Amino acid sequence: MCGIVGYAGGDSAAKIIYDGLLKLEYRGYDSAGIAVMEQGKITVAKRVGRVQKLAPSVQILEGNIGIGHTRWATHGKPSDENAHPHTSGKITVVHNGIIENYAELKSELSAEGRIFLSETDSEVIAALIDKFYDGDLLKAVIDCARMLKGSYALLAMCEGEERIVAAKYRSPVILGLGGNGNFVVSDEPALAGNCPELCVLEDGDFAVITPLSVAVYDSMKNPVIRAVYPVAAKEQSIVLRGYPHYMIKELWESPSAVSRTLSEFAKVQYGVEKLLKDAKKIILTGCGTAYHAALVGKRYFCEICKKSAEAEYAGELRYDMPVIGCGTVLVAVTQSGETADTVEAARLYKSLNAKVIAVTNCPHSAITRISDAVVPVAAGPEICVAATKSYSAQIAALLSMALAVGRSPECEVLKRELLSAPSTILKTLEEIDIYALAEMCARSRGVYFMGRGIDYALALEASLKLKEVSYIAGSGYPASELKHGALALIDGGTLSVFLINDEALASKSANAVEQTISRGGMVSVITSLREVGEQFSGRAEVITLPSSNRYLSPFAAAAAVQFLAYRTAVTLGRNPDKPRNLAKSVTVE
Ligand code: M6R
Repeated sequence: MCGIVGYAGGDSAAKIIYDGLLKLEYRGYDSAGIAVMEQGKITVAKRVGRVQKLAPSVQILEGNIGIGHTRWATHGKPSDENAHPHTSGKITVVHNGIIENYAELKSELSAEGRIFLSETDSEVIAALIDKFYDGDLLKAVIDCARMLKGSYALLAMCEGEERIVAAKYRSPVILGLGGNGNFVVSDEPALAGNCPELCVLEDGDFAVITPLSVAVYDSMKNPVIRAVYPVAAKEQSIVLRGYPHYMIKELWESPSAVSRTLSEFAKVQYGVEKLLKDAKKIILTGCGTAYHAALVGKRYFCEICKKSAEAEYAGELRYDMPVIGCGTVLVAVTQSGETADTVEAARLYKSLNAKVIAVTNCPHSAITRISDAVVPVAAGPEICVAATKSYSAQIAALLSMALAVGRSPECEVLKRELLSAPSTILKTLEEIDIYALAEMCARSRGVYFMGRGIDYALALEASLKLKEVSYIAGSGYPASELKHGALALIDGGTLSVFLINDEALASKSANAVEQTISRGGMVSVITSLREVGEQFSGRAEVITLPSSNRYLSPFAAAAAVQFLAYRTAVTLGRNPDKPRNLAKSVTVE
């Protein structure tokens, strides 16, 4: 949440920071700003709205050191005043995170005569650093950090000091090394094409970045050594390459994301298998789409591994009072690896002696540093706020994990069939005709997705995706629950979409379809079962998927509902890549 880019080097800082912010816009797009230092003097340009609004300023901001920010508003509405950077006296800062004690600090600082121009918690940081500053920016940032409660990735500059000081606590900060200058960013894609190596700061670290050097310190100003890794994000993987939106580009990348995830699993299989084999109870967790993948994973672990498994939203799990016996394994599913609730749930379980397995697309993220094992989701950078390829790759990772432990003869068959998941997704995308259904969605007052078993988990994901990118209300329901309340909503203005891919439950779901048709609702059936399609042909909008085993059915079904959400958004003229009010990595509570 909130993208941060700092640069110190030989090029125009404003231009480099602007390009970096464009790459990080998925982290928030309420306002943007850049501060650049030239001959010890700092100039700030900031505007409400998207990063592009800064383009005219970039031409005139001169200097080789600077910091920039693209904001997802937490404290204070999107406005020019609340946009970062914030300045107090000689100090200018950008911040990602939440300062929980900002109101208290603000009133103390106000009583001392400091004036605040914004409603943000972040401005307090600038004021505090300025208060502590006595000629050493690093010391002032360390003194400020001691006063802060909450989370921060912050960059500070001080008039007259030709350097950037960074501080990190519970929000990501990455240093980029070896390019034409040094970088400090919140997220790896901002480094793509800029530098070959990166170094990830740990909580409590501080860093000093100049054009010629980068140094990391602890809170006593002792130097700290952090490992250096190659930058994996490639420039060509984060540009549109002719696609109109990242959502559709990334959807078409799902087959390769799944295929890479399956190959990567082989490298970690041994360690993961050992942890899972010994597990007496498996808890899966995540937020949003990742939670929906966890729900599918729960079915895999229960049915394929015969293990006791549960799935819970990370935001709920972290405040539960869990009774953890020995042998509990937490499987934390998260694309970014930085989602605050998921990371905190993992920390809680770790502190209670559970084993933690992270299933993540980001190998240097916070979750990986807490976990006993990491299962790579090798989807590559996902720029669209709505998750697409990462969801399919998460399902592939979870199914691989279950199959590594499952011992029934069916597992061997499933392992072979799983290898065809990428081609099933491709076939779905190539053959599906979703346009009429997208028109129906676009015309509907509400869209309800329903299914049973694994299809219910898919129904939740379908509903989230459609809401997120098209702003059409609705929900995901177990088809069994329809007559216990939701049926009251059904009329000619609502659309019910039934996912039916499990042969054993198909006749039950078909009853719910009949009940909905009899109440005059618009109905669609998305199915890989030929006889179900035939049953409703002419009475409902039937979308036919390639046939597959029910454990593998999520691959085709996910592609279909993601495509549906995309087409509906486009039909309604929405921008699916940057839905209103959202950001991709939710690093705050
Ligand atoms: O990075 P994570 O997977 O932890 O993110 C979790 C959710 O915020 C995320 O899946 C969100 O629901 C997506 N925007 C859905 O498309």
